[in-house]
Amino acid sequence: MKFQRLRGTDDILGSQARLWQKIEKVSHNLFSSFGYQEIRTPIIEPLKLFERSIGETTQIVEKELFQFQDRSGRDICLRPEATASIARAYIENRLFQKAGLTKLYYLGAMFRAERPQKGRKRQFHQVGIEAIGSSQPELDAEVIYLAKLFLDKLELKDYLIQINTLGCREDKKEILAYLAERLKDNLEGFCSDCKQRFSRNPFRILDCKNSSCRENLEKLNINFQEAICKECLQHYQEVKELLSHLKVEYSEERRLVRGLDYYTRTVFEVSGSGLGAQNAVGAGGRYDNLIEEMGGPAVGAIGFAFGLERIALLLGEEEEELSPLDVFLVLQNREYLKLALSTVMKLRQEGLYVEMDYQGRSLKSQMRLANERNARIVLILGREEFEMGGFSLKYMESGKQIWVSKEDLISTLKGD
Ligand code: HAM
Repeated sequence: MKFQRLRGTDDILGSQARLWQKIEKVSHNLFSSFGYQEIRTPIIEPLKLFERSIGETTQIVEKELFQFQDRSGRDICLRPEATASIARAYIENRLFQKAGLTKLYYLGAMFRAERPQKGRKRQFHQVGIEAIGSSQPELDAEVIYLAKLFLDKLELKDYLIQINTLGCREDKKEILAYLAERLKDNLEGFCSDCKQRFSRNPFRILDCKNSSCRENLEKLNINFQEAICKECLQHYQEVKELLSHLKVEYSEERRLVRGLDYYTRTVFEVSGSGLGAQNAVGAGGRYDNLIEEMGGPAVGAIGFAFGLERIALLLGEEEEELSPLDVFLVLQNREYLKLALSTVMKLRQEGLYVEMDYQGRSLKSQMRLANERNARIVLILGREEFEMGGFSLKYMESGKQIWVSKEDLISTLKGD
């Protein structure tokens, strides 16, 4: 029987795994330096959590959840994103009792049953942040600045930040009414999905990737900003001013709405060239009512998430090199295996990157392996070395060979 990985899942290995480690390292360092603490929430959650927060009429909830019943008949799903889980964790762990903002970051696997293609997986991975406890525009600006800095630290080029505002909860009702009014007699040229969306959730029409739907929206000059209240427009204005002050370049995309229902006010998307149809590498926004609607206090919040697969695609073939091997220990005679093994362990404890042979190779083929692995130094242990209490040490680049006693081994290796 031949086993294969499931469609839309990946094995991350070799130089790709090293690239992922680099992205993860930048995430840990950068987000901690902004005061974010790591949170790890479960991969399985109650189905209702996402139905309530993301919205029952969204694409994710309607079509993409991996859901199942456990043995006791409870409805469970694999998380499609982390914002809802973090809102739950914030309330469940009473994090609101601490003064000031709660700043959390996360890394992990998410699951959506989408049609797989380049940069679109069924199991994918996000790195993201959530800042909970403020509705002030300076937080929006800081969060978008952080998203930009994250990409800069990764040395990712050619990305575009698009922003928009959706207004508050009341404004969103106005926007829905506006969309219903503007679209009701003009649904002709829209795709069948959009025709259905019209009666269920017209917001989603603005998200449709179908080119004729997009053209129709353009023709109809849909501009829902007129449905947004003064306070929210003022908030948006301040966010933009602060972004300019922080030298964050952005463009306004007045039809940007995002595919999840919890957003209010500021929303943003970061796209990179070279991702094809799936060009969003990261996205986020405010969700000022979500915590309260889930049974927590009325606090504003904002966050973002980037897709690791998409970042890795954008960083491209830029291979992360294996770090070079410090030492390869060549064992001439199996009689001295114990000494070889304990020497390798001791050197590794000292932080040196050391390898030996584990396949009973001949002396010649051990030397060949040391060469292939690009070892800086080869340490030879044979009868003569054993009897004299030391090792022959060969510098591979110069070919120079010296004798070193057991006692001087570490200082010699480290000193070079
Ligand atoms: P999202 O736009 O659904 O937002 O996903 C964020 C990012 O995850 C996308 O920009 C993309 O890079 C990646 N992503 C999403 N789906 C896939 C997929 N099927 N395959 C590969 N990558 C994917 C959220 O998830 C929100 N929770 C973001 C947020 C945080 N908003 C506020 N806080």
